[in-house]
Amino acid sequence: MSAANDDEIIPRAGVIGWPVAHSRSPKLHGFWLKQHGLTGRYDKLPVPPEDLAGFIADLPKEPGFRGVNVTIPHKIAVLPLMAQIDDVARRIGAVNTVVVQPDGSLYGSNTDAFGFIESLKADAPAGWVASAGPAMVLGAGGAARAVIVALLDAGVAELRLANRSIEKAVALADEFGHAVQPVAWDDRAAALAGVNLLVNTTSLGMAGQPPLEIALDDLPATALVNDIVYSPLVTDLLARAKGRGNPVVDGLGMLLHQGRPGFEAWFGVAPSVTPELREAVLAD
Ligand code: ATR
Repeated sequence: MSAANDDEIIPRAGVIGWPVAHSRSPKLHGFWLKQHGLTGRYDKLPVPPEDLAGFIADLPKEPGFRGVNVTIPHKIAVLPLMAQIDDVARRIGAVNTVVVQPDGSLYGSNTDAFGFIESLKADAPAGWVASAGPAMVLGAGGAARAVIVALLDAGVAELRLANRSIEKAVALADEFGHAVQPVAWDDRAAALAGVNLLVNTTSLGMAGQPPLEIALDDLPATALVNDIVYSPLVTDLLARAKGRGNPVVDGLGMLLHQGRPGFEAWFGVAPSVTPELREAVLAD
């Protein structure tokens, strides 16, 4: 058995963003590295927009570098810098996971849709399935695109999309097809009638942001409610939904599950999401 020595190349990955100080990804991947007893590193990598192309071009030349996660503001800009991207990243229009291939070329994927649907599968009550009825999505930004792709791929036949700026919801409906139906922001409460799922992808309800105002009177009692905001973990939306008896799933699961494919590609072990991981990632 050989222990790691100084001239052994340590497998590395990290998260690129600007700023990147608040990213929880190092805690997530650091937990998994330790849990599996792996020699490896996962670092915060602050990369300003003007340095992005150069950083990506140099990535395959760095000894041990297996790839990176990509966060704000680089998720869209990084897409044309990849040699190959997967179909989901192309449809979402953004890359959040980069893998250095054995030949040194870069493969870009987007694991946010996977993370979203896996989080619902893991945390929804037994028997709940996404395809059982209409879904209502609030918001039409980058996060909404990942949620829309995930839900369409999960077989949702009717997706009501409410956004403050209706033109963005209309543009997404044009792009993703007739299953996506734009809803005026003022009609969001009425459009909850008959839904099987309600997802908030807006920044409303996040610490420091305005509250999400939506009356839940028309929401069926069996509808699952998910907020991709995870700070606070129990948003006002989730608290109100829970208070009236709806099943709820918080936003932390999406963050944790989206990390799984990258970790496996970089470090060769398929990790799992456990209560201990949730605690470690939430801890300050
Ligand atoms: P992300 O990539 O996280 O989705 P984004 O692209 O900036 O972030 O999208 C933010 C979403 O929150 C948008 O749907 C935005 O609505 P607009 O498209 O009308 O801007 C929504 N949002 C932000 N602040 C809002 C507010 N005060 N009221 C309603 N919606 C809001």
